[in-house]
Amino acid sequence: MNDTPRVKLAIFISGNGSNLKAIHQEMLNGFMPYASIELVVSSNQKAAGLNYAKNNSIETYIINQQDQGWDLPLLNHLETNKITDIALAGFMKVLPKRFIDHFIGRIYNIHPSLLPKYGGKGMYGQHVHEAVIKNKECKSGCTVHIVTAGIDEGPILAQSSLIIESNDTAASLAIKVLELEHQLYAPTLDAHFRKRIGKRL
Ligand code: GRF
Repeated sequence: MNDTPRVKLAIFISGNGSNLKAIHQEMLNGFMPYASIELVVSSNQKAAGLNYAKNNSIETYIINQQDQGWDLPLLNHLETNKITDIALAGFMKVLPKRFIDHFIGRIYNIHPSLLPKYGGKGMYGQHVHEAVIKNKECKSGCTVHIVTAGIDEGPILAQSSLIIESNDTAASLAIKVLELEHQLYAPTLDAHFRKRIGKRL
């Protein structure tokens, strides 16, 4: 196992970080033994997920929102830490194209809808669930995809869905979908990484 290429993950957050926690807890239970969360990057210095990172001795990096070219020092930091892959988990900033190009095919995102439905600009958080309920959809769910320059448009790695009950509201749906997210993200990353490790890095 020693010569197995390692996955050094950075997780990007802006808020609660419940997906960060779900992935990290899986790893603490021995899941993805070839991978580690090396860094948590936040666009928001008050993100609750930063406390989780600090309490679990994971290094953190806070983006300087005042800096127009914020992605360049971040890229530098990721390189210094030899980060191989990035998982976005509630990260609320759009990554510049040059940043995506640098990590092309190695940035992943989880989105709270069944893409391609309810994705793109303005479709985040509660807005997604409100639109789903308003349109009387009979199912919803979440999607893990590879990040490309188009918002929520990259190749889909996995989806998980649920049936919407007649008494569901945007708030109840948000809770149910988030639970699905916590079950989907780590196994999807694992399957993806294992395919790559099988072919060597
Ligand atoms: C999740 O619903 C995710 O799909 C979306 O942002 C939310 C992040 O939640 N991209 P958390 O910060 O992981 O709790």
